[in-house]
Amino acid sequence: MNKTGDKRYQLTNLETGQASELEAHAGTLGPAVLDIGAVGRDHGLFTYDPGFMATAATASRITYIDGDAGMLLYRGYPIEQLAEHSSFLEVAYLLLKGELPVAGELASFTRSIGEHTMLNESLLRLYGGFHHDAHPMAMVAAIVASMSAFYHDTTNIYDEHHREIFAHRIIAKIPTIAAAAYKHALGQPFVYPRNDLDYCSNLLHMFFAVPCDAYHPDPLHAQALDLLFILHADHEQNASTSTVRLAGSTGCNPYAAISAGVSALWGPAHGGANEAVLEMLEAIGDVSQVPAFLDRVKDRKGGVRLMGFGHRVYKNFDPRAKIIRAMCHQVLERLGHSDNPMFELALKLEEIALQDEYFVSRKLYPNVDFYSGIIYRALGIPQSMFTVMFAIARTVGWVAHWQEMIADPAMKIGRPRQLYLGATRRDYRPLEQR
Ligand code: CMC
Repeated sequence: MNKTGDKRYQLTNLETGQASELEAHAGTLGPAVLDIGAVGRDHGLFTYDPGFMATAATASRITYIDGDAGMLLYRGYPIEQLAEHSSFLEVAYLLLKGELPVAGELASFTRSIGEHTMLNESLLRLYGGFHHDAHPMAMVAAIVASMSAFYHDTTNIYDEHHREIFAHRIIAKIPTIAAAAYKHALGQPFVYPRNDLDYCSNLLHMFFAVPCDAYHPDPLHAQALDLLFILHADHEQNASTSTVRLAGSTGCNPYAAISAGVSALWGPAHGGANEAVLEMLEAIGDVSQVPAFLDRVKDRKGGVRLMGFGHRVYKNFDPRAKIIRAMCHQVLERLGHSDNPMFELALKLEEIALQDEYFVSRKLYPNVDFYSGIIYRALGIPQSMFTVMFAIARTVGWVAHWQEMIADPAMKIGRPRQLYLGATRRDYRPLEQR
């Protein structure tokens, strides 16, 4: 902890007068955090904060968000600069290692990722156990979890070299796992990775190539995917990353921890929102229906939410949404889809919502998922794969956080406490006496 700027607070029991000093530790940026050790030690209390609204579960040096300013930094670098100048694998290196690579480091990292792209054939056979209409996120979670049954030579989590090989393996193989899920759903043969292609071109190749035809991934498509992946690579202690940390804190196999993250990401309040946004736009259908739809959202009876809007941390524009919206204009124009009706509808929906008192007063702005699906669709990625695309990019963040946690000598198993509201102690009564 950075001690500069630490502040002291006092917690006093107003009945007994017992007082304890609590220290607030300052970070390098953002609000200080109150060290609540004395609350339990001196007062026998737990703190209560459902949904972690105000609780920092860890210290971290990876990603910083200022939700009021709409700012996102990866290892200190603004997302806007990385989106403009960097590449997904360079960002992956940055997130994992903490510094931007020099040319040789990037080349060797890229080579290593390229060398680990293939899946063990036994893993490929597992796909056959899934029905063709299984959701790809279910397949991806299962295959990633199954990787725990492989690579026994390199899963000593306390060995730095093992951790690095794990990191390269999962980052390299997650596109192969995703593409195989897609091919299985289509009933097409799996397409093996091509290590002469860059990360995103190889992904497109594994998605769209078929054995009977030549396929040349479009560099424009690969570039668009690369940018989307940069934007999705990490987002500090979000639900899926916190899941990976919690699972990983037990010392479990790292593939099992990543699989837990995939499952957490799937929910519509989290990464599943990109798929839900397209479903919502399709259901609205036409600009003329936007006011009626927003009325349904606002009356709150049916539990309808404006998907792709709102965020736990951003109370201002999600900077990623701004970049994706601009990218939508460029990509759709370059792909010859400039009159894309879904995009027109989304723009109108955003415009109307941002003038509506309901959304304004609650500081609800478009988030990263509002526009990403429109780009994925323009690239030919099917709706059911949108959250999988998010998972591919976020794997980097999960791994960076898992590594940071395991390397921390202060790591403890994550074990939240509770406010118990159930029955008090009572005695068992045999069936005939109830
Ligand atoms: N549509 C309508 N009302 C909303 C929405 C929305 N999308 N989001 C929040 N609200 C309302 C909510 O009803 C509440 O109103 P009130 O104070 O009157 O009860 C208020 O705004 C605060 O909402 P909350 O649910 O307490 O906020 P939260 O921080 O717990 O939830 C959220 C954040 C992202 C889960 C939520 O905004 C949401 O469900 N959004 C839609 C799903 C979505 O787009 N998720 C993607 C998030 S970004 C990518 C990612 O994390 O993976």
